[in-house]
Amino acid sequence: MENRPPPSPFKEGCLKGKVALLTGGGSGIGYEISLQLGKHGASLAIMGRRDHVLRSAVDALSHHSISAIGIEGDVRKEDDALRAVESTFKHYGRLDILVNAAAGNFLVASDHLSPNGFLTVIDIDAVGTFTMCRKALKYLQKGGPGKDPSSDGIIINISATLHYTASWYQVHVSAAKAAVDSITRSLALEWGTDYGIRVNGIAPGPISDTAGASKLGPGELMEEMQQMPLFKLGDKWDVAMAGVYLASDAGKFINGTTLVVDGGQWLSSPRRLPKDAVTQLSREAERRSRDSPVGLPRTKL
Ligand code: COA
Repeated sequence: MENRPPPSPFKEGCLKGKVALLTGGGSGIGYEISLQLGKHGASLAIMGRRDHVLRSAVDALSHHSISAIGIEGDVRKEDDALRAVESTFKHYGRLDILVNAAAGNFLVASDHLSPNGFLTVIDIDAVGTFTMCRKALKYLQKGGPGKDPSSDGIIINISATLHYTASWYQVHVSAAKAAVDSITRSLALEWGTDYGIRVNGIAPGPISDTAGASKLGPGELMEEMQQMPLFKLGDKWDVAMAGVYLASDAGKFINGTTLVVDGGQWLSSPRRLPKDAVTQLSREAERRSRDSPVGLPRTKL
């Protein structure tokens, strides 16, 4: 049975009057971020490669009384990126928030991955993110076209935690997301200073009902969960709430960070020593070390 997410802790209209452009905003985590930004008052433009996905997303959003348009395009194409930004401005007259959620992903052993396969994912995730940011800069900047002079801009880059350690069969995605995090920090520094744009990221861990999770078998999913401090998968809602937080005034002093939404999974490691045994073992080790001091000078009394 599907879990019903709790009500949003944020004010319903906290993004009222804002306009958000989301790449990959028609499906998966990107769609849930679209939905939650919309539910909190933002008007939306969602960009994606598949027209039918965009159409059904716009239709679904309209059932929540959210204003949304779909823009077909590929973030790998500079012209498409420019057209998406300009169409959003033309339709709504301003742009406040850019969410880079478009991503390419497939599992493959690195010795079976062609350089072009590697490049393809770098091109979508890293170059695509930069291209969208670059094309949107003019509109996103503080006091940009259609905005009042105090209205700043927000960029949110969807990342991952794969590259914090190392992940099997994900050399291309890990490299791409490492680049995305680096772009987030560099733009936060430069564009925060020069243009009043806050640039942050979100790094989701294992999230139920997503393309990422469906690529793992049930056994692998269970194994992932067993190593998670909270012993459960996250919901798309969890990621989207992080998006609302970063996009709203609640996050007004957050810049250059990538918020990890993974229940603590990336830092988890298997428990090698049962909890019951740790006190006894530790005391025993301490007693032994007191009885036979090692490395201390032996003084003759
Ligand atoms: N295993 C190995 N290599 C793969 C691959 C796979 N599963 N899928 C694509 N590639 C390689 C291709 O072989 C090709 O390299 P080559 O020319 O050396 O043979 C290269 O990647 C480009 O593939 P192509 O299918 O032409 O690219 P595309 O632009 O049509 O699609 C993706 C590439 C990544 C966008 C596509 O695989 C995709 O749509 N993936 C799903 C997106 C997704 O899961 N998004 C959610 C992100 S969490």
